[in-house]
Amino acid sequence: MTEKTLIPGLEGIPCAASSVSFIDGIAGILEYRGYDITTLANHGTFEEVAYLLLYGELPKKDELVAFDAELRANRVLKYPVLDIIKSLPSTGHPMKAIQAGVAVLGAFYPVDDLNNAHEQRLASVRLIAQLPTVVAAFHRARQGDEPIAPNVELNHATNFLYMLDGQIPSAVISRTLDIAMILHMEHTMNASTFTGRVVASTLADPYAVVSSAIGSLTGPLHGGANERALEELREIPSVDAVDEIITGKIERKDKIMGLGHRVYKTTDPRSTLLQGLCAGVFAERGSAEIFDIARKVEEIATGKLGHKGIFPNVDFYSGILYDAMGIPSDLFTPIFAVARVVGWLAHWKEQLIGNRIFRPTQIYVGHRQRPFTPMSDR
Ligand code: ACO
Repeated sequence: MTEKTLIPGLEGIPCAASSVSFIDGIAGILEYRGYDITTLANHGTFEEVAYLLLYGELPKKDELVAFDAELRANRVLKYPVLDIIKSLPSTGHPMKAIQAGVAVLGAFYPVDDLNNAHEQRLASVRLIAQLPTVVAAFHRARQGDEPIAPNVELNHATNFLYMLDGQIPSAVISRTLDIAMILHMEHTMNASTFTGRVVASTLADPYAVVSSAIGSLTGPLHGGANERALEELREIPSVDAVDEIITGKIERKDKIMGLGHRVYKTTDPRSTLLQGLCAGVFAERGSAEIFDIARKVEEIATGKLGHKGIFPNVDFYSGILYDAMGIPSDLFTPIFAVARVVGWLAHWKEQLIGNRIFRPTQIYVGHRQRPFTPMSDR
């Protein structure tokens, strides 16, 4: 019998062959379907990059027009789905609402043939189109407000912001969210994507796949670090106080939220792009000291921890950015989900090709063959 070795967290163990995205954590490279993330963020739109991830190629003009039209036409939630969202406790975290909302969608839209390209397209479009509507409907319901119907005139990112408060955002804010969502769409075999692939491997439908992946994203070790990074930055009173506070944390070996990454040992390329987006939003909305504080934290921390490969990750600037855009902090992780659903769906489709159900093994460390003791003798 060969000796089995336990690898906690399956660290470094490949669990799929994938052509969806690629990371070189040493060089700081992230590519979707072979295209560099910076190029996609600078030149692509949410709709275009979503098509790329789902179908493997950049869309031709007519393909993009058709895909975009399908997304716009599928944003509206059925009334019973809205009723379920409205009946959820207003104090609950929005991630619970979107996980429940997506699971419920599966009851209304059964998928008969998972391998049928038309059914795959319908389900993918519905999930991408309706997730923002679920988030916005819950956000409004918890404040006692009626949901705002999606506006077909607006693109995906703009319509999402519009459904939150009924205001059409400026072009800068709208494009900022568009890019931020491109940056969050996909990231190889992270915990939620792995979760989604495991569920997909059972031939569960895509609504079950996505709601399970959302459940995985609710954990603070995966989604949620951006909320905590923002909280930590808010605790620093001024730029002048940064050096002492950050040096103290480093000396005490405290983890600074938004820094470090299991894969990237240099600056996460998404962090650089998000930092640039912050500058654009603050130029429109007036400068905020928290951005200057964050830049100083980055300078001090990377100066002292850079040799260990500790640099800003995607969560370091995203919280500051969303906060500056007026988005409540408990919607940061839901926005992550609104974007990442595209990656989950690309992996769902990929998993179905030559699928084999995930069934790892274990190293048993418990008792064996124990005699049963009657209740009277225990
Ligand atoms: N602040 C200060 N020091 C750090 C940090 C940090 N954020 N992260 C790692 N270090 C230090 C560790 O103390 C350790 O030092 P040592 O060698 O002297 O003991 C060294 O750097 C290596 O750290 P590890 O924990 O081994 O690195 P690992 O790759 O396992 O951890 C992780 C990565 C979990 C992301 C970690 O950096 C961390 O906790 N960061 C803060 C939380 C965070 O921002 N999470 C979001 C990640 S991105 C995402 O999930 C979307």
